[in-house]
Amino acid sequence: MDQRLDQRLNDALNLLLEAERAGVIALDKLIAEVEQDELRNFLRGSRDMEQRNAEELEALIRDNGGAPSSKTGPFADKVAALGTIRERLALMSHGQEWAARKTEVALALAPESGAIHDYLTAMANRHRAEVEWGRAEVIRLMNAS
Ligand SMILES: [Fe+2]
Repeated sequence: MDQRLDQRLNDALNLLLEAERAGVIALDKLIAEVEQDELRNFLRGSRDMEQRNAEELEALIRDNGGAPSSKTGPFADKVAALGTIRERLALMSHGQEWAARKTEVALALAPESGAIHDYLTAMANRHRAEVEWGRAEVIRLMNAS
């Protein structure tokens, strides 16, 4: 594609890309610390989703004439700085909410139809679902042990 991606949209997509990368690192650390198998499997699923999002966002930016960032967001360090697994899980859930909001911000900057619009719509829905489901699941699993 020879058209350049709108700078504000490019930046909004890169913010998401950097955050998804940070999510992968944060989840990898958490997975190593969690002892319950079920909770670990749940977190692995989230981790794989974050990894996929990062790869797909990078391709989306590049394929639409943008410049994908190579950075990673500050989120993983914030999670790691917390003292307990429970606090880290709670911050992960807030992180998903933040990502859903920022995805909607990017969506508002995107053309009303096309690949970017469709991708961001699906990504916002995935994050909203993950927030709801994850919150319930984490509470259930933490109480089960
Ligand atoms: Fe995410």
